[in-house]
Amino acid sequence: MTEYTEKLTEVNAVPSETIDGDDGFILEIDGLKVYFELRKRGFQHAGFVQAVDGVDLKLRRGETIAIVGESGCGKTSLMKTILRINTPTGGTITFDGEVINNLKSQGLKNLRRKIGFVQQDPYGALAPFMDVQTILEEPLKINGVKDRKERVKRVRQVLEEVRMTPVDDFLRKFPHQLSGGQQQRVVIARAMILNPILLVADEPVSMLDASVRVEILKLLRALQEEHNLAVIYITHDLATVRYFSEYIYVMYAGQVIEKAPESQLINETAHPYSHALLAATSDPDPKNVDEFQKVPAGEPPSLVSPPAGCRFHPRCELIEKGLCDVKRPPEFDLGNRHTVSCWLFKDRPIVREFEN
Ligand SMILES: Nc1ncnc2c1ncn2[C@@H]1O[C@H](COP(=O)(O)OP(=O)(O)OP(=O)(O)O)[C@@H](O)[C@H]1O
Ligand code: SF4
Ligand SMILES: [Mg+2]
Repeated sequence: MTEYTEKLTEVNAVPSETIDGDDGFILEIDGLKVYFELRKRGFQHAGFVQAVDGVDLKLRRGETIAIVGESGCGKTSLMKTILRINTPTGGTITFDGEVINNLKSQGLKNLRRKIGFVQQDPYGALAPFMDVQTILEEPLKINGVKDRKERVKRVRQVLEEVRMTPVDDFLRKFPHQLSGGQQQRVVIARAMILNPILLVADEPVSMLDASVRVEILKLLRALQEEHNLAVIYITHDLATVRYFSEYIYVMYAGQVIEKAPESQLINETAHPYSHALLAATSDPDPKNVDEFQKVPAGEPPSLVSPPAGCRFHPRCELIEKGLCDVKRPPEFDLGNRHTVSCWLFKDRPIVREFEN
């Protein structure tokens, strides 16, 4: 066994029953809250931005989920908390059989080598003074792969996986010498280089030209299938989820308001906000590039003092006054792993009640 494969074995090759825990989940998020404290004004406490407020989420090995919602609903805050860049304010996150809420240095290092991270802006994600080979060798060096030949071998392998061939044409290029799509491939290669078990992709195509968006989504899909990766795909655009997400979580103002298998959510949309989001989607296919992305009418609410009851009520045409604006709707069960938090479905069984 080579030094590199030994390292990965150490990190990732625990038998899957152990990794997945008793119920098969590699990631379980329960009642997660992520609040950011606002700067104090004089002696007064200025309050908190409730970026994520009571989110539950479960993910199995090899499963792909999408988190969808408009700008500012807390998608990136959630993702950064899974990576423990943010610290949870409440609730628990269990990853790979371990509660990660309070991990410290070595624990965080272990966590981050098991999670690959693809962000929105590839150029901003790549150090401009490093060439592709240096960028990709860096995580291997940090994780103790001392043999240079071994590192270069893995760099070449991962560049082939992201279809940057012939590899020799790219190894010595700097980020500014690459197109946006090629830069994002390098970011994806870096996310894959330590053989993660989970890939988190935060709006991975929203800053790319329409012509390369589908290619990048297909690449992510292919990598997911080849490596049986769990993937969390974060987007404001419901139309792109059909490229690879099996299950969708719709977020509004820091909360999950509907979740369902992909086709169920698209064909049997329940929540008025999900309806609006669906009506406003674009298509990443270049043929449909002129279709643009609108957002539902009205402004997203303040997350410092969010509306009482259902947070969508100030924008909802179906509001039942005295109920929707007063009491937070529980999660109602619609069957087929489809749930919704909306009072329109109050005749359905309750899966979960919330504090107001
Ligand atoms: N470090 C921080 N300090 C204070 N507020 C923050 C911080 N990070 C995020 N926020 C706030 O939390 C809320 C959610 O932001 P977040 O970036 O998670 O949303 P998003 O869904 O990813 O939006 P976008 O689609 O624009 O990327 C916003 O009101 C944002 O201003
Ligand atoms: S709970 Fe009421 S206000 Fe909220 S989405 Fe449903 S109908 Fe609209
Ligand atoms: Mg974001």
